[in-house]
Amino acid sequence: MTSNNTHKDWWKQAVVYQIYPRSFKDSDGDGLGDIAGITSRMGYLRDLGVDAIWLSPFYPSELADGGYDVIDYRDVDPRLGTMDDFDAMVAAAHSQGLKVVVDIVPNHTSDRHPWFQEALGAAPGSAQRERYIFREGRGCDGEIPPNDWLSMFGGSAWQRVDDGQWYLHLFARQQPDLNWKNPDVHEDFIRTLRFWSDHGTDGFRVDVAHGLAKDLSSRSLEELGRWPSQAQPTADGDHPLWDRPEVHDIYREWRRVFDEYDPPRFAIAEAWVAPEHQHLYASEKELGQVFNFEFAKANWCPQELRTAIVKGLDCAREAGSTTTWVMSNHDVPRHASRYALPQVRTRGYHQIANDWLLRNGESYIEDRDRGTRRARAAIMLEAGLPGSVYVYQGEELGLFEVADLPWDRLEDPQSRNSRGPFCVKGRDGCRVPLPWRADDEPRPAAWNPKFGEGASFGFSPQERAGSPACEPHLPQPLWFRHFAVDREDNDPTSMLQLYRKALSLRQTLLTATRDTGLTLLTTESFDDRSTIAYSRMTTRKDRRFVSITNFGSEPVPLPHGTVVLASADPLGDSIPQDTTVWMLTDV
Ligand code: GLC
Repeated sequence: MTSNNTHKDWWKQAVVYQIYPRSFKDSDGDGLGDIAGITSRMGYLRDLGVDAIWLSPFYPSELADGGYDVIDYRDVDPRLGTMDDFDAMVAAAHSQGLKVVVDIVPNHTSDRHPWFQEALGAAPGSAQRERYIFREGRGCDGEIPPNDWLSMFGGSAWQRVDDGQWYLHLFARQQPDLNWKNPDVHEDFIRTLRFWSDHGTDGFRVDVAHGLAKDLSSRSLEELGRWPSQAQPTADGDHPLWDRPEVHDIYREWRRVFDEYDPPRFAIAEAWVAPEHQHLYASEKELGQVFNFEFAKANWCPQELRTAIVKGLDCAREAGSTTTWVMSNHDVPRHASRYALPQVRTRGYHQIANDWLLRNGESYIEDRDRGTRRARAAIMLEAGLPGSVYVYQGEELGLFEVADLPWDRLEDPQSRNSRGPFCVKGRDGCRVPLPWRADDEPRPAAWNPKFGEGASFGFSPQERAGSPACEPHLPQPLWFRHFAVDREDNDPTSMLQLYRKALSLRQTLLTATRDTGLTLLTTESFDDRSTIAYSRMTTRKDRRFVSITNFGSEPVPLPHGTVVLASADPLGDSIPQDTTVWMLTDV
């Protein structure tokens, strides 16, 4: 076990690796990643130097939203394995010293969930319907939705059922929103938290954590529908849908469950709220930590990244916790691609994610050398910071977004619901199955020679019960061969090797001190228009850790000290553009 994981509050300074299970590793040849596939790669994860794995949903699902439409919260999707496979995976993780975090999706269920099926079969006003948010429509026959709210995936947020009522779904039509005023909902999620904790899970990632408490009764629905920005929380706590103060009662209730265990379970909130509200979710009386997405939203620009760092540290201080650093996840375009585009300030990734430039794959212009160079500098900038680092599967290989996936192979509801000039391809481009072996190379596909068929770079075994394995659920581009794990394993200059070195140094020099202090450095050489430099204490009392990232075109002189890692070679006596250097200097 790494020394970090021997501490009760291991999650405060962890490196957590996010697995999107359907695309990580397929063990049985059906073209879908699975739980046994994860178990088979536990050694890879240990060698990478992460402290924990977080699994995006692996529960039974119709896959209307990549598994975030859950049919049964306390089981494994049969296509991904069994509960025995899950237990074996947890045991394998623990035996390698790794913790396991699972995803909890409390804002909505799948429309195939038994509760929703019961609600459909029950009458308006029944107890079964009360677990969801059903309302009458407007117009003479109730044929107009209760108000004009839109789903986050496009179209109305209301869907009509056979008897004429409408139900609310802030995401896909197949994801009806739960009514958190209903005690059944509270009880059921408490059962779910205990269920996974009893199966050895160490923590939870809470999906759409800021959306559970809704106020649909204080004003007419029509009036609520006129809310200035339906999609964005307001900072005053008065938004009918997001970041309402009552949501914190739910997490205080959950904290009591987490504290039944030794060590207490932890949770991290996915909460898209104003930065000044983030700390509420991360309080030790509630979930413990919150995703700080400011880092992921920032362009490759020192002013934006420094602001993200300062805000993250401020939030951690207020919460009495630590912050988190995220560059990529299953919802956003891969950062190697984002950084390969012209960096235009003020375009947060929200805009970029929905930007036809990046995700329609036709007018996609990326400078991959530059993207790689910046992604190398970025992981070192990030991994030297105090708090937890979240690494999304494939970023350690330097993967780019697969922007040109064919429309007819897309799975994400964002793509299905978008039409017209601003149509978007959605989030599948960062969810393509990982390349494990360069020699298991597919041939150019008949339908598009840029993609492969017939093999899967080692994602699936070659055979399934005596027949060739199925194609991966999303097609892999042929350029994936350059990023295969075995190839990067044998290349001392690869992204994979850089991640391994950086995470190992982070653990031995920084995390092991348990200190979370950081000093931002601004000197004549490290001016804040073109550099981000900071220092921290290390396990060596006489030496300080210094990280310097140069964004500018002018080289920055290397300060006095010993270079322990650099994101680019050769270094000489100065730090070139788009490079991070880690040094040990005298105290
Ligand atoms: C979260 C998930 C995203 C999902 C949405 C609805 O934002 O990260 O993938 O689509 O919730 O569950």
